[in-house]
Parts: sequence; C-alpha cells; structure tokens
Amino acid sequence: MNHDFSALKSACETCTGCPLHETRNHVVFGVGNPDAELLFIGEAPGENEDLQGEPFVGRAGQLLDLYLNGIGLDRKENIYIANILKCRPPKNRDPKPEETKACLPWLRELVKIMRPKIIVCVGRISAQVIISPEFRVTKEHGVFFERNGTLLMGTFHPAALLRDPRRKGDAFEDFLKLQDKIKELGIRI
Ligand code: URA
Repeated sequence: MNHDFSALKSACETCTGCPLHETRNHVVFGVGNPDAELLFIGEAPGENEDLQGEPFVGRAGQLLDLYLNGIGLDRKENIYIANILKCRPPKNRDPKPEETKACLPWLRELVKIMRPKIIVCVGRISAQVIISPEFRVTKEHGVFFERNGTLLMGTFHPAALLRDPRRKGDAFEDFLKLQDKIKELGIRI
C-alpha cells in the first residue's frame, strides 16, 4: 500500500482537530482500494460506522453496495469510500461548518495522493461541499462537472432513498451513467 496513504490514515486516526473527537468511538477514515481511480464521498459516520470504524455499514450502506454491485463495483476492490467528516456528529446531526472546515484537509490530502479520475458525491451535503454550495440534488444528480481534470458527480444519499424510495430509479440511473463514463474514459476498475 502507498506509504503516503498509510501515513495520512494513521495521522488522521489520532486527530483532535474539532470537538467531535471527544465523543467518537472510531475515526472513520475510509474503506476500499486507495489505488482506485474512483472516489466516493459521503457525509459523516453514523452510529454503526462509529462503532465499526468503516463507512456505510448500516442500512444505507447496504443500499449503496447494491448500486455499486449493480454496475460491477465492489467497495473493497475498485473504489475508495470516505466521508466529509471522519467522526460521528452526535445524533447524526448535519455537520457544522467549522467541523467541515477542520476535517476537509484530510480529504484534500487523500485526493492529492489518490488523484481519482471521478469523484462521486453521495448525497446533498457532500455535493454542496465538494461541487458547489448551490448544488441541488433533485436537479443536478447524475451530471458530471469537470474540475482540474477530475470529474465530479452528485447523487442521492441512500438514507434519503430509504426515506423516499420513489427516487431509487433515478439514483440507479446515476450509477448507470457512471458505468458509461467509466467505459468511455477507460477508467481502471
Ligand atoms: N452516511 C454517510 O454519509 N456516511 C456513512 O459512512 C454512513 C452513512
């Protein structure tokens, strides 16, 4: 495994950069293949993620895996999955701006090391941090935006899909668009 990646992950695991470190059980740095060309970014760990130290392990994570597997991707093999925040916000509230600010340098360094070809923002909050504060998931899901040679795309959060299953078809179409883009660009999976 890439030395820079391991060093970054180890440093992150002792982070005390914001008050969320006081209530966490685990830092949730990410899961997957750090050599992948695809990076998925969610919002923040929930209860199960905080307990297990891995992103998207609850019901929302199972749905995410279903979509990934549906286009031939596996969370451990061909992608890397991280979150905007590495520590769980109490009661799963939205990240505070100061928490996002404190935590983003970890993600920036990860992107520098991985140099992903495509970043998929899982949910509105991630897309508003990564793509644009004005991002509207209902209008702009599945659209690819180019930034400095990387394609950015936002899609529905699987937890939102569990609350409103009517969007599940739209969400899977985003994954099919991703699959087309992977083929078009010859992305290594
Ligand atoms: N929701 C997220 O955005 N990330 C997780 O890791 C789990 C649930």
